[in-house]
Amino acid sequence: MAVPGTRTTTHLGSPVDTGPSEMMPEPADAAHPWLAERLGLRALTYPVPAHANGILYALGGVTLVGFVVLMVTGVYLAQFYHPTPTDAYGSLTYITMSAPLGDLVRSIHYWAAMSVTVTVSLHLVRVFLSGAYKAPRELNWLVGLGLLAITMGFIFTGTVLKWDQEGVEALAHNEAVAALLGGLGGWFSPDFTLSVPLLTRIFFAHVSILPALFTALLAFHLFLVKVHGLAPLGRADGRDGNRSIDHSDLAAFYGEPLQPFTSHLRITAGWGALILAISVALATAFPAPLGPPGDPSIEITKPPVMFWWLYAVEDLIGIRGLLVGPILFFELLALVPFVDRGPHRALRRRKGILVAGLVFVGGLLALTLFTGLTPPQGHIHGS
Ligand code: HEM
Repeated sequence: MAVPGTRTTTHLGSPVDTGPSEMMPEPADAAHPWLAERLGLRALTYPVPAHANGILYALGGVTLVGFVVLMVTGVYLAQFYHPTPTDAYGSLTYITMSAPLGDLVRSIHYWAAMSVTVTVSLHLVRVFLSGAYKAPRELNWLVGLGLLAITMGFIFTGTVLKWDQEGVEALAHNEAVAALLGGLGGWFSPDFTLSVPLLTRIFFAHVSILPALFTALLAFHLFLVKVHGLAPLGRADGRDGNRSIDHSDLAAFYGEPLQPFTSHLRITAGWGALILAISVALATAFPAPLGPPGDPSIEITKPPVMFWWLYAVEDLIGIRGLLVGPILFFELLALVPFVDRGPHRALRRRKGILVAGLVFVGGLLALTLFTGLTPPQGHIHGS
């Protein structure tokens, strides 16, 4: 479908002017003309390249849908959760046993967090493989890494909030980070303030600090996607053309047909709805786990699976792995756009960075497998 009022191309590349925008009402206008006019929905029909309609290019948006589900379910859970060491676990059992739909909503929250981890990782892999981090999008790659760090922060703090054995051990790791950071670790330490328990502050991080940071970074991320446009597809012949978007002739810039952004939105919403349906089905079949009340004097659990690679680093080099692991992880990823600076985006012309990426992912998988195959170890109290 062509975007009204814009130039588009045939598959052979010849530009076609589709005429003034009045000639072709967009579906959003046709379905709800009154609302569409008041909300200015026509502003969403700006042209994007046709390749944006594939699932690979919907992964960022699907991740966003997952975050909306997390926010809605999280607000509901917060009505019943009591963020103090004495009452947290009791409120969790209240949520699972007594609160209306509590167990289901908690389980959807849990599975939505799992699905967001998967979709954000696949989104990162897609951006990596398509070379979309290259100039002028290096900064947006770094902003994306910030979003990834915040996502990990959400999962870590969420694990602590359970206040079962796994949660209590996760909090002990939080305190270990404080000790490792010395003077810089103040916030992570229980001594930061004596009037509010660390668990309560972790709760506030989960429901206010992290969401605020996430919203600000996400707005910047999407702003940069809009400013630069999606990266054009890499060309096997190496003629990747201009790196900066030419808003006056998008069809020539992309060398492919254009679509209205609304069609990308519809496809993203469809995939988002499917992921939500899967999360609800999983929540019904496999309710979110809750272990026994935590005993701070023992270490017998492993963290959620997305942290197994880090747990293995702790196994290998001790508690300082908690700092070394994430620093290395983010540093290596942050270097990508500054190491792979050539003009080409096609994969076959970027073999060096592809091999580096495979080694990186292989290393993470090997560490994850190591944790999966070995019994839990004591990192705080020693084994
Ligand atoms: C945590 C949440 C994230 C959300 C909600 C998000 C959302 C989005 C969305 C909606 C897009 C538009 C295209 C698409 O969906 O593929 C996009 C593009 C992009 N994202 Fe993300 N993103 C996130 C994390 C990341 C991460 C971890 C990275 C990489 C480190 C990253 C790097 C990029 C880049 C470079 C683009 C431009 C891609 C292109 O031009 O083809 N994002 N993101």
